Amino acid sequence: MALTGRDFLAMTDLSSTELMEVLGLARDLKAGKECQIGRGKTLGLLFRKASTRTRVSFSVAMYQLGGQVVDLDPSVTQVGRGEPTSDTARVLDRYVDALAIRTFAQEELDLFAYHCRIPVINALTDREHPCQALADLLTMQETFGSLAGLTLSYIGDGNNVAHSLMLGCAIAGVNVRVACPDGFMPDGDIIALAQSMARTSEVIVTHEPARAAGAAHVLYTDVWASMGQESQAQDRAPIFQPYQVNEALLTLADPKAIVLHCLPAHRGEEITDSVMEGSQSRIWDQAENRLHVQKALLASLLAP
Ligand code: CP
Ligand code: NVA
Repeated sequence: MALTGRDFLAMTDLSSTELMEVLGLARDLKAGKECQIGRGKTLGLLFRKASTRTRVSFSVAMYQLGGQVVDLDPSVTQVGRGEPTSDTARVLDRYVDALAIRTFAQEELDLFAYHCRIPVINALTDREHPCQALADLLTMQETFGSLAGLTLSYIGDGNNVAHSLMLGCAIAGVNVRVACPDGFMPDGDIIALAQSMARTSEVIVTHEPARAAGAAHVLYTDVWASMGQESQAQDRAPIFQPYQVNEALLTLADPKAIVLHCLPAHRGEEITDSVMEGSQSRIWDQAENRLHVQKALLASLLAP
């Protein structure tokens, strides 16, 4: 297994071949393939932000692989009291076999990875949410049979989820069109990176939702204010209103288009209740797929 012992800090840590291998293993595991690679191993969860899906799906994935999970809750460990990351990392490295970290700065995650010999996994930072993008690509592959020739349209805030999707689509050869308000575009270096990696597909960034959504196979959105930006939510609402994923926008997409959202959602803001609950929504399959892709990822990183 080429991924044994590696970190997964960013979407670009996987080549297109490795990405397809992880998705393939995820499909096999979802279909019932037995895998006990985690037996006798422990995954540490170090989360500085709230989480339902990532926390539970990583835990269940590790249990299903025969392993165990330890919760390194910052409020009850020395992590929350400012022990240097370099010290914490070198100690945790001696106890657990892999670490999944959810934090604010990508640099903190990178520092953990630098001081740990074990695999370190990005469970969301302000910059990226690569485990989410894996589940999104699996959901698209399941729906359409293949990723080839698909176009994903992301409408809303140019945030961590948008960043990993752009990079993931570029690596997988999926066309990606991102529509965000002025001042809320994805980071310039991510746009440049995605464009440079997209050898067989295109990466388009615009301020016009209709331009992004036209004939798209996937309409995707996320909250307008991410964790840590709650105080900006009120000011952002009117700016983002034209970027809502609703019935009118959906009619512009391909008739067979699906709707995705990483969740949690704010119904009536970035997405309407009727679209979330509508026949084109694959949001619950997408959430389920977090389990299967992360199980595949853990099995790959922990493989002997
Ligand atoms: N999509 C996602 O990561 O959800 P949680 O914040 O609940 O983990
Ligand atoms: N962009 C959101 C994703 C939550 C899963 C956030 O960072 O809060």
